[in-house]
Amino acid sequence: MKTGHYPICDFGDLSCLFFIVVFLFLALEFCMSLILGDCRNFTGQLEYDYIFSSPPDFDEIGFDPNDRGQYQTFIKECFNGAFEKKVPITFALTDRKYKSGVISKSNLLMNVMRLYGYTLASHKIWAKAIDTEWMMRLTYSNVMTFAPANKKGNPVSSFKVNRDYKPFRPDVWSIARDAYKGYGYAIPVELVKRCLMAHLRSGQRVYDPFMGSGTTAVAAIQCGFDFVGTEIDETTFQLSQQRLKDLKTS
Ligand SMILES: C[S@@+](CC[C@H](N)C(=O)[O-])C[C@H]1O[C@@H](n2cnc3c(N)ncnc32)[C@H](O)[C@@H]1O
Repeated sequence: MKTGHYPICDFGDLSCLFFIVVFLFLALEFCMSLILGDCRNFTGQLEYDYIFSSPPDFDEIGFDPNDRGQYQTFIKECFNGAFEKKVPITFALTDRKYKSGVISKSNLLMNVMRLYGYTLASHKIWAKAIDTEWMMRLTYSNVMTFAPANKKGNPVSSFKVNRDYKPFRPDVWSIARDAYKGYGYAIPVELVKRCLMAHLRSGQRVYDPFMGSGTTAVAAIQCGFDFVGTEIDETTFQLSQQRLKDLKTS
Protein backbone atom coordinates (compact mmCIF):
# COMPACT_ATOMS: atom_id res chain seq x y z
CA MET A 1 0.00 0.00 0.00
CA LYS A 2 1.28 3.46 -0.89
CA THR A 3 1.64 5.97 1.92
CA GLY A 4 2.57 9.61 1.92
CA HIS A 5 1.07 12.91 0.87
CA TYR A 6 -1.61 12.84 -1.78
CA PRO A 7 -2.68 16.22 -3.10
CA ILE A 8 -6.48 16.47 -3.34
CA CYS A 9 -6.02 18.22 -6.60
CA ASP A 10 -3.23 18.32 -9.15
CA PHE A 11 -3.04 21.87 -10.52
CA GLY A 12 -1.33 20.55 -13.61
CA ASP A 13 -4.73 19.18 -14.51
CA LEU A 14 -6.95 22.01 -15.80
CA SER A 15 -10.18 20.09 -15.18
CA CYS A 16 -9.38 20.40 -11.48
CA LEU A 17 -9.22 24.18 -11.78
CA PHE A 18 -12.60 24.06 -13.49
CA PHE A 19 -14.12 22.22 -10.50
CA ILE A 20 -12.66 24.75 -8.08
CA VAL A 21 -14.15 27.64 -10.05
CA VAL A 22 -17.54 25.87 -10.17
CA PHE A 23 -17.32 25.17 -6.43
CA LEU A 24 -16.54 28.82 -5.62
CA PHE A 25 -19.35 29.96 -7.89
CA LEU A 26 -21.85 27.62 -6.20
CA ALA A 27 -20.61 28.62 -2.74
CA LEU A 28 -21.20 32.27 -3.59
CA GLU A 29 -24.64 31.50 -5.02
CA PHE A 30 -25.53 29.52 -1.89
CA CYS A 31 -24.40 32.25 0.51
CA MET A 32 -26.06 35.09 -1.39
CA SER A 33 -29.78 35.09 -2.04
CA LEU A 34 -31.48 37.93 -3.79
CA ILE A 35 -35.28 37.80 -3.68
CA LEU A 36 -37.62 39.80 -5.88
CA GLY A 37 -40.64 40.72 -3.76
CA ASP A 38 -42.18 42.73 -0.96
CA CYS A 39 -40.13 42.42 2.23
CA ARG A 40 -43.38 42.27 4.24
CA ASN A 41 -43.83 38.73 2.93
CA PHE A 42 -40.30 37.59 3.86
CA THR A 43 -38.95 39.28 7.00
CA GLY A 44 -40.58 36.70 9.26
CA GLN A 45 -39.70 33.70 7.06
CA LEU A 46 -35.98 34.17 6.40
CA GLU A 47 -33.03 33.23 8.62
CA TYR A 48 -30.54 35.95 9.54
CA ASP A 49 -28.53 37.33 12.45
CA TYR A 50 -28.60 41.05 11.74
CA ILE A 51 -30.39 43.58 9.53
CA PHE A 52 -28.70 46.43 7.74
CA SER A 53 -30.97 48.59 5.59
CA SER A 54 -31.72 52.03 4.23
CA PRO A 55 -35.52 52.33 4.13
CA PRO A 56 -37.15 54.10 1.19
CA ASP A 57 -37.95 57.80 1.40
CA PHE A 58 -41.57 59.00 1.46
CA ASP A 59 -41.80 59.75 -2.24
CA GLU A 60 -40.13 56.48 -3.28
CA ILE A 61 -43.20 54.67 -1.93
CA GLY A 62 -45.76 57.35 -2.79
CA PHE A 63 -46.28 58.54 0.81
CA ASP A 64 -47.13 62.07 1.93
CA PRO A 65 -44.18 63.34 4.09
CA ASN A 66 -46.73 64.99 6.43
CA ASP A 67 -48.39 61.67 7.20
CA ARG A 68 -45.98 60.25 9.77
CA GLY A 69 -48.42 57.55 10.90
CA GLN A 70 -48.49 56.06 7.41
CA TYR A 71 -44.69 55.74 7.37
CA GLN A 72 -44.56 54.28 10.88
CA THR A 73 -47.16 51.67 9.96
CA PHE A 74 -45.13 50.74 6.88
CA ILE A 75 -41.96 50.28 8.97
CA LYS A 76 -43.85 48.17 11.52
CA GLU A 77 -45.20 45.93 8.77
CA CYS A 78 -41.79 45.53 7.14
CA PHE A 79 -39.88 44.71 10.34
CA ASN A 80 -42.49 42.85 12.39
CA GLY A 81 -40.90 39.48 11.66
CA ALA A 82 -37.48 40.77 12.71
CA PHE A 83 -38.80 42.19 15.99
CA GLU A 84 -39.95 38.69 16.88
CA LYS A 85 -36.51 37.23 16.13
CA LYS A 86 -34.89 39.98 18.25
CA VAL A 87 -32.00 40.59 15.89
CA PRO A 88 -30.09 43.90 15.96
CA ILE A 89 -31.09 46.33 13.23
CA THR A 90 -29.11 49.18 11.66
CA PHE A 91 -30.87 51.85 9.61
CA ALA A 92 -29.00 54.27 7.36
CA LEU A 93 -31.32 57.15 6.56
CA THR A 94 -31.39 60.84 5.73
CA ASP A 95 -33.84 63.13 7.49
CA ARG A 96 -36.05 64.93 5.07
CA LYS A 97 -35.81 68.68 4.38
CA TYR A 98 -39.38 69.68 3.71
CA LYS A 99 -40.70 73.16 3.07
CA SER A 100 -39.43 75.35 5.92
CA GLY A 101 -38.31 72.52 8.21
CA VAL A 102 -36.96 69.01 8.56
CA ILE A 103 -39.05 65.87 8.94
CA SER A 104 -37.07 63.65 11.26
CA LYS A 105 -37.32 60.12 9.90
CA SER A 106 -34.79 59.16 12.55
CA ASN A 107 -37.30 60.14 15.26
CA LEU A 108 -40.09 58.28 13.51
CA LEU A 109 -37.95 55.15 13.50
CA MET A 110 -36.88 55.62 17.10
CA ASN A 111 -40.53 55.72 18.16
CA VAL A 112 -41.36 52.53 16.27
CA MET A 113 -38.32 50.73 17.63
CA ARG A 114 -39.12 51.71 21.24
CA LEU A 115 -42.64 50.46 20.79
CA TYR A 116 -41.28 47.06 19.77
CA GLY A 117 -38.85 46.67 22.68
CA TYR A 118 -35.69 47.99 21.04
CA THR A 119 -33.21 50.57 22.29
CA LEU A 120 -30.80 52.83 20.44
CA ALA A 121 -27.35 51.24 20.82
CA SER A 122 -25.33 53.60 18.62
CA HIS A 123 -25.93 56.66 16.47
CA LYS A 124 -23.32 57.58 13.85
CA ILE A 125 -23.41 60.42 11.37
CA TRP A 126 -22.32 59.84 7.79
CA ALA A 127 -20.91 63.15 6.55
CA LYS A 128 -21.30 62.89 2.80
CA ALA A 129 -18.18 64.31 1.23
CA ILE A 130 -20.00 66.70 -1.04
CA ASP A 131 -20.01 70.44 -1.49
CA THR A 132 -23.43 71.96 -2.01
CA GLU A 133 -24.31 75.59 -2.56
CA TRP A 134 -28.02 74.96 -2.82
CA MET A 135 -29.14 73.27 0.38
CA MET A 136 -32.30 71.52 -0.72
CA ARG A 137 -31.12 68.28 0.81
CA LEU A 138 -29.25 67.50 4.00
CA THR A 139 -25.63 66.52 3.43
CA TYR A 140 -25.46 64.04 6.29
CA SER A 141 -27.23 60.81 7.10
CA ASN A 142 -27.98 58.91 10.30
CA VAL A 143 -26.63 55.42 10.88
CA MET A 144 -28.63 54.13 13.85
CA THR A 145 -28.26 50.69 15.38
CA PHE A 146 -31.04 49.35 17.56
CA ALA A 147 -30.64 46.41 19.91
CA PRO A 148 -33.39 44.43 21.64
CA ALA A 149 -33.77 45.91 25.12
CA ASN A 150 -33.89 44.22 28.52
CA LYS A 151 -36.28 45.25 31.31
CA LYS A 152 -34.05 48.18 32.27
CA GLY A 153 -34.08 49.48 28.70
CA ASN A 154 -30.45 48.52 28.00
CA PRO A 155 -29.30 46.30 25.13
CA VAL A 156 -29.75 42.61 25.96
CA SER A 157 -26.55 40.80 26.95
CA SER A 158 -26.48 38.83 23.69
CA PHE A 159 -26.03 42.10 21.78
CA LYS A 160 -22.31 42.43 21.06
CA VAL A 161 -20.28 45.03 19.23
CA ASN A 162 -16.82 44.22 17.96
CA ARG A 163 -15.05 46.97 19.90
CA ASP A 164 -11.67 46.07 18.43
CA TYR A 165 -12.86 47.16 15.01
CA LYS A 166 -11.59 50.74 14.99
CA PRO A 167 -13.35 52.22 11.91
CA PHE A 168 -16.71 51.81 13.72
CA ARG A 169 -15.67 53.84 16.76
CA PRO A 170 -15.91 57.54 15.72
CA ASP A 171 -19.36 59.12 15.84
CA VAL A 172 -18.85 61.01 12.57
CA TRP A 173 -17.87 59.11 9.44
CA SER A 174 -16.59 61.08 6.51
CA ILE A 175 -17.05 58.75 3.55
CA ALA A 176 -17.23 59.71 -0.13
CA ARG A 177 -20.46 58.87 -1.92
CA ASP A 178 -20.32 55.91 -4.24
CA ALA A 179 -23.02 54.35 -6.38
CA TYR A 180 -23.30 51.47 -8.84
CA LYS A 181 -24.12 52.73 -12.34
CA GLY A 182 -25.33 56.05 -10.89
CA TYR A 183 -28.24 54.45 -8.90
CA GLY A 184 -29.60 57.47 -7.01
CA TYR A 185 -30.39 55.94 -3.60
CA ALA A 186 -27.15 54.06 -2.99
CA ILE A 187 -25.05 54.29 0.14
CA PRO A 188 -21.28 53.66 0.09
CA VAL A 189 -20.01 50.08 0.43
CA GLU A 190 -17.49 51.33 3.01
CA LEU A 191 -20.30 52.54 5.30
CA VAL A 192 -22.04 49.16 5.22
CA LYS A 193 -18.77 47.29 5.78
CA ARG A 194 -18.15 49.23 8.99
CA CYS A 195 -21.53 48.15 10.34
CA LEU A 196 -21.17 44.50 9.29
CA MET A 197 -17.69 44.23 10.79
CA ALA A 198 -18.96 45.69 14.08
CA HIS A 199 -22.10 43.57 14.41
CA LEU A 200 -21.51 40.21 12.72
CA ARG A 201 -19.30 37.28 13.57
CA SER A 202 -17.81 34.70 11.25
CA GLY A 203 -20.44 32.46 9.57
CA GLN A 204 -23.34 34.87 10.24
CA ARG A 205 -25.82 36.33 7.80
CA VAL A 206 -27.11 39.85 7.18
CA TYR A 207 -30.53 40.63 5.73
CA ASP A 208 -31.35 43.79 3.78
CA PRO A 209 -35.14 44.09 3.29
CA PHE A 210 -34.71 47.12 0.96
CA MET A 211 -31.83 45.86 -1.10
CA GLY A 212 -31.84 48.52 -3.85
CA SER A 213 -28.69 48.20 -5.96
CA GLY A 214 -27.27 45.51 -3.66
CA THR A 215 -24.74 47.56 -1.67
CA THR A 216 -25.23 45.42 1.45
CA ALA A 217 -24.65 42.27 -0.62
CA VAL A 218 -21.38 43.66 -1.99
CA ALA A 219 -20.20 44.65 1.48
CA ALA A 220 -21.14 41.18 2.82
CA ILE A 221 -19.16 39.42 0.08
CA GLN A 222 -16.15 41.64 0.65
CA CYS A 223 -16.26 41.00 4.42
CA GLY A 224 -16.94 37.24 4.09
CA PHE A 225 -20.50 37.15 5.50
CA ASP A 226 -23.66 35.54 4.12
CA PHE A 227 -26.38 37.73 2.68
CA VAL A 228 -30.07 37.64 1.93
CA GLY A 229 -32.00 40.56 0.49
CA THR A 230 -35.41 41.52 -0.86
CA GLU A 231 -36.26 44.17 -3.43
CA ILE A 232 -39.73 45.02 -4.69
CA ASP A 233 -38.84 46.85 -7.89
CA GLU A 234 -37.93 44.55 -10.79
CA THR A 235 -35.60 46.98 -12.61
CA THR A 236 -33.69 47.70 -9.40
CA PHE A 237 -33.58 43.98 -8.63
CA GLN A 238 -31.97 43.29 -12.02
CA LEU A 239 -29.45 46.05 -11.31
CA SER A 240 -28.43 44.31 -8.07
CA GLN A 241 -28.08 40.97 -9.92
CA GLN A 242 -25.87 42.61 -12.53
CA ARG A 243 -23.78 44.22 -9.80
CA LEU A 244 -23.04 40.86 -8.18
CA LYS A 245 -22.20 39.32 -11.57
CA ASP A 246 -19.79 42.20 -12.23
CA LEU A 247 -18.24 41.66 -8.81
CA LYS A 248 -17.64 37.97 -9.52
CA THR A 249 -15.86 38.72 -12.76
CA SER A 250 -13.85 41.70 -11.50
C1 LIG B 1 -33.23 53.70 -0.26
S1 LIG B 1 -33.37 52.38 -1.42
C2 LIG B 1 -32.12 51.26 -0.89
C3 LIG B 1 -30.77 51.57 -1.48
C4 LIG B 1 -29.70 50.58 -1.13
N1 LIG B 1 -29.29 50.70 0.25
C5 LIG B 1 -28.49 50.75 -2.05
O1 LIG B 1 -27.41 51.12 -1.57
O2 LIG B 1 -28.65 50.56 -3.26
C6 LIG B 1 -34.84 51.59 -0.92
C7 LIG B 1 -35.25 50.42 -1.80
O3 LIG B 1 -36.35 49.76 -1.18
C8 LIG B 1 -37.20 49.26 -2.19
N2 LIG B 1 -38.50 48.97 -1.57
C9 LIG B 1 -39.50 49.83 -1.27
N3 LIG B 1 -40.52 49.19 -0.66
C10 LIG B 1 -40.16 47.88 -0.58
C11 LIG B 1 -40.78 46.72 -0.03
N4 LIG B 1 -41.99 46.78 0.55
N5 LIG B 1 -40.11 45.55 -0.09
C12 LIG B 1 -38.89 45.46 -0.66
N6 LIG B 1 -38.27 46.54 -1.21
C13 LIG B 1 -38.88 47.74 -1.16
C14 LIG B 1 -37.20 50.35 -3.24
O4 LIG B 1 -37.62 49.85 -4.51
C15 LIG B 1 -35.74 50.82 -3.21
O5 LIG B 1 -34.98 50.12 -4.17
